[in-house]
Amino acid sequence: MTRVAVVTGGTRGIGHAISIALKNKGYRVAANYAGNDAAAQQFQVETGIPVYKWNVGDYDACAKGVEEVTKALGPIDVLVNNAGITRDAMLHKMTPEQWREVINVDLDSIFNMSRLVIDSMRNRKFGRIINISSINGRKGQMGQTNYSAAKAGAHGFTKALAFEGASKGITVNTVAPGYINTEMVAAVPKEVLDTKIIPQIPVGRLGEAEEIARAVTFLASDDAGFITGACLDVNGGHYIAL
Ligand code: CAA
Repeated sequence: MTRVAVVTGGTRGIGHAISIALKNKGYRVAANYAGNDAAAQQFQVETGIPVYKWNVGDYDACAKGVEEVTKALGPIDVLVNNAGITRDAMLHKMTPEQWREVINVDLDSIFNMSRLVIDSMRNRKFGRIINISSINGRKGQMGQTNYSAAKAGAHGFTKALAFEGASKGITVNTVAPGYINTEMVAAVPKEVLDTKIIPQIPVGRLGEAEEIARAVTFLASDDAGFITGACLDVNGGHYIAL
């Protein structure tokens, strides 16, 4: 039986690597994206993974997207809530819009997408929901009250839904990446990255998106059926919390 996986924000950055890794493990994958048509088309041509455009912060758009994917590929077995944005600013400079945008795309999306697949997972007594959080939702980060709050929210959501899904064969976990070699991290001022961030990473380098993807494919697999409500930190020792 081929399982169906949806990866939000699945055509760029960490999501790009997750979509490909799941495809290589034999899943039928749908990669959602929000805005960058050129990158999405290139991704589809290069990988053969179909792409679907909708805004994960908009519940009705998610409902249409889930319906479309289900019609094309079948009911969704694995949901990877990966889509995320940053709007970094110190709180004393942050606008209400910067706060709302990040909470909407990074946290509301997890409710929207999970709510829309949960009935079908419960009925079929199988599901994997993997929320891509962040080291900064674990430890906090200057300039990221919005992002740290959204990502910490993902952990609370995960723990609560893990209880609800446990008796129905549904596991719910987070992967919390550290600083990964993607466009999002490249947007951090170079001086801050070089002097304040990389020196704090014990392994001495940024992570690679494929290193996150391997954690996700593990949590999606049958081998991980007894792991639920957990957070897998993949951060090069940058934040060690046991
Ligand atoms: N750690 C410690 N100190 C920091 C810091 C950091 N990461 N970033 C900034 N500072 C310090 C600055 O050195 C400065 O100190 P002084 O006042 O003593 O000079 C002070 O904070 C204010 O910094 P700026 O003058 O640069 O203030 P700003 O308003 O122009 O910008 C900022 C502040 C938005 C925090 C900016 O420095 C920034 O973008 N920092 C990076 C934030 C970050 O790490 N974001 C992560 C993005 S990647 C991601 O989110 C993916 C993921 O999941 C990990």
